[in-house]
Amino acid sequence: MKKAVILNASPRRDGNTDQLMNLFLSECDCECIVYNMYDENIAPCIACDTCSTTGNCFMNENKHILEDLFSCDYIVFATPIYCYSFPAPMKAFLDRLQPYYSDEKYKNPAFHRKGFVLVTCGKSGKFGIDVIEKQSRIAFIELSASFEGIYLFPNTDKEPAFTDDEICKVKSLAEKFFD
Ligand SMILES: Cc1cc2nc3c(=O)[nH]c(=O)nc-3n(C[C@H](O)[C@H](O)[C@H](O)COP(=O)(O)O)c2cc1C
Repeated sequence: MKKAVILNASPRRDGNTDQLMNLFLSECDCECIVYNMYDENIAPCIACDTCSTTGNCFMNENKHILEDLFSCDYIVFATPIYCYSFPAPMKAFLDRLQPYYSDEKYKNPAFHRKGFVLVTCGKSGKFGIDVIEKQSRIAFIELSASFEGIYLFPNTDKEPAFTDDEICKVKSLAEKFFD
């Protein structure tokens, strides 16, 4: 059975991001492992440089997540926008992917899995999504995942409920993603 790993970066259970994630996953019939980054207590990178000499991070509290990410078929980031970026626990996790960074990987990326990003934000329009997209594209290369797309559910400050059109759009994106 195929496996999907979802990194959920929202601290609010059943909030906008959870609702968007659940809608997307309603079209997934593979095994789903959801990590809420606020539960994981990922330590921030301290730039000790150990990974550039040994290839490994000296901390390993994120090992179980990495094992799942590197053995899955689909990766989904589900996140609210916080100050144009990911919330801090998710950003800490992404910074800790530094051991997987290599110029060669960026020149010749090999994709063993697919990646998709789900975003919610309070304001209207594409407020802040460009930063999340750039960070996700880099992270997916480090995780050997192809960037398959990004979906923004905006304006949650004023309109927190999905319209029928939005529900159809999210479900059809998910259908294509989970092939
Ligand atoms: C600390 C913080 C920073 C935020 N920064 C932004 C922002 O830069 N742009 C934006 O459109 N919304 C911003 N928001 C609003 C959230 O992105 C929005 O309410 C989101 O839908 C929350 O998702 P949730 O219900 O899963 O928590 C911010 C919210 C918080 C709490």
